[in-house]
Amino acid sequence: MKLKLFSCTVALAATLSVQAQHVMDVNTKKVGVPVQSTMYGLFFEDINFAADGGLYGELVKNRSFEFPQSFMGWRVFGNVQLKDDGPFERCPHYVLLSDPGHRERRTGLQNEGFFGIGVEKGKEYRFTVWARAPKGNSQIRVQLINENTMEEHQEFVQQKLDITSSDWQKYEVALKPNRTDPKAQLRIFLSSKNPVALEHISLFPKDTYKGRENGLRRDLAQALEDIHPGVFRFPGGCIVEGTTLDTRYAWKNTIGPVENRPLNRNRWEDTFDYRYFADYYQSYGLGFYEFFQLSEDIGAEPLPVLSVGLACQFQNDPSAHVPMDQLDPYIQDCLDLIEFANGDPATSKWAKIRAEMGHPAPFNLKYIGVGNEQWDDLYYDRLEVFMKAIRAKYPEIKIVGTSGPDSEGKMFDKGWAAMKRLKADLVDEHFYRNEDWFLATPEGKQKWPNCGALRYDSYDRKGPKVFAGEYACHGKNKHKWNHYEASILEAAFMTGMERNADVVQMTAYAPLFAHVEGWQWRPDLIWFDNTRMFRSVSYYVQQMYATNKGTNVLQLTTKDPADAKGKRQVPVAGQEGMDGLHASSVYDSTTGEVIIKVVNASKKAQTVTINLNGMKGERQAETLTLYHNGSMDDENTLDNPMKITPKKGTVNCEAGQKATVLNDELPAMSFRLYKIKK
Ligand code: AHR
Repeated sequence: MKLKLFSCTVALAATLSVQAQHVMDVNTKKVGVPVQSTMYGLFFEDINFAADGGLYGELVKNRSFEFPQSFMGWRVFGNVQLKDDGPFERCPHYVLLSDPGHRERRTGLQNEGFFGIGVEKGKEYRFTVWARAPKGNSQIRVQLINENTMEEHQEFVQQKLDITSSDWQKYEVALKPNRTDPKAQLRIFLSSKNPVALEHISLFPKDTYKGRENGLRRDLAQALEDIHPGVFRFPGGCIVEGTTLDTRYAWKNTIGPVENRPLNRNRWEDTFDYRYFADYYQSYGLGFYEFFQLSEDIGAEPLPVLSVGLACQFQNDPSAHVPMDQLDPYIQDCLDLIEFANGDPATSKWAKIRAEMGHPAPFNLKYIGVGNEQWDDLYYDRLEVFMKAIRAKYPEIKIVGTSGPDSEGKMFDKGWAAMKRLKADLVDEHFYRNEDWFLATPEGKQKWPNCGALRYDSYDRKGPKVFAGEYACHGKNKHKWNHYEASILEAAFMTGMERNADVVQMTAYAPLFAHVEGWQWRPDLIWFDNTRMFRSVSYYVQQMYATNKGTNVLQLTTKDPADAKGKRQVPVAGQEGMDGLHASSVYDSTTGEVIIKVVNASKKAQTVTINLNGMKGERQAETLTLYHNGSMDDENTLDNPMKITPKKGTVNCEAGQKATVLNDELPAMSFRLYKIKK
């Protein structure tokens, strides 16, 4: 390879060192296959306290006393009785607070929230409760407290609430704390002689995403919007399946008034005894209506995934699943969901509920996932029946099947063969693999023949399309932490997805959210505690792709280092001789920009020359660079959320003899994208 010092000006600081010059050719004359709008998406699962205690704005745990241990999350004192003939049929429990029997004694209850209740100074919180005063007017005092304070008063904000009716009614009062406290508690005293019955005790920030009452935590939802995802897959993941079938995600229980949504046991309570959370349940307050609404808000196509009648296959014997001749209710769930999302409220029961909830217009559902991460004949046989029923009624809906939990191997091949035979529209592939897989090192290739950025170059163009629905680089011996190096390798791998956008039409990193005190699974895209959050470096990788996905692929090649004659052109995908370089390119017909993504996944700086064939004259390229001049194990943190973020810059491109030429040097372990007006 030619040695040459580059002549462009790199606005971002980069160390000059002479490396082998890597020459790449981008064909800007021929606009290639379209990049689907769904290409870079998000996958939401209620794992790591992502919903209750996370994205869902509710701050009270076990607000309806429906947990199997009715007072889990609560401490009750004085004269408190649990009752079960409340106003909400599917959540029948409530508490009756009565006089403690002595003027110096107290009756009340106290909620610990999710790892505490996070409140912020100056913000308003909406306390609501369903209540009745069975024996005449009664009163409660509602407080936010710091139980462990040395101050005179534990409460730092308090409001009185009069309960004035003997019928069940909803009451509301605002609390405006004068301090920030990530671990406050909610305390309620009975402050009248008369008793009071309380049900669905709730506390939300008023400042939710889009200001909705049953809303989402603003900072977390905003982070989703900021990615500009093309597709939003929900609600899982394994929770779709459940540890047992009766705890699978039951979407019909998640719609309608929140007060009447029954509780579900979270499948992730049951998974790891070394990260066990006995209080992990699903209130379903963040349900399918809210998921559709969120998809719409963030501009993503909704992709709900429904049970195919299989309980989690990892956790069960075949006897746990629904027999083939009893699948009807499960199939009906799929059909009814399509009606719920798209139907006409005038004629459809399910669409009517959607309209009553505030969304008369359809959600315009186009995709449905049937089964999460299933495998073998018991899946393929069931899927076939589901597909027949869905296709018969809704031929326009695209069906997403799955190749199971492995990224390759016998069962993966069997899955793909079945998906082809059944003519699934898309196949959901999952890969949680280490550095060797993402970089396709020789060891990686030995173990996983189809790994690395060339994975999709050899995929069958005639079969179903790929949805890379869950993936992340799990660092070897790194206990799966998020860390910078893993994110760069994900970026490198993604060049292969982009190059193959004719086959890969949807992708999503996984999982999305994790509470720092309540996680079961790492790495995750966004971490949070009760008042703060940070976007991981992997988040920024996803965002760089999603916000620069262009409209069409452009061919980007280099001379094959393995071809002695130097004639063969090949993709830049980290093959031997490419010094860890990976690259892809797209054209954006809406902005007229050529966008080139280059990842240097080697431990040395690399110089590149990119010929923009089809373009003439000088240009200035805008750049966005993800680079960290520190430990490869570093990551953003709650205390330092902006430690590693992409930085903007520019590079001047020369007027070469035949084409515009971009010369640059990429620092070791970096990801840079270039945008050049055509
Ligand atoms: O994302 C975590 C889990 O990984 C998902 O629930 C499952 O689909 C996969 O095994």
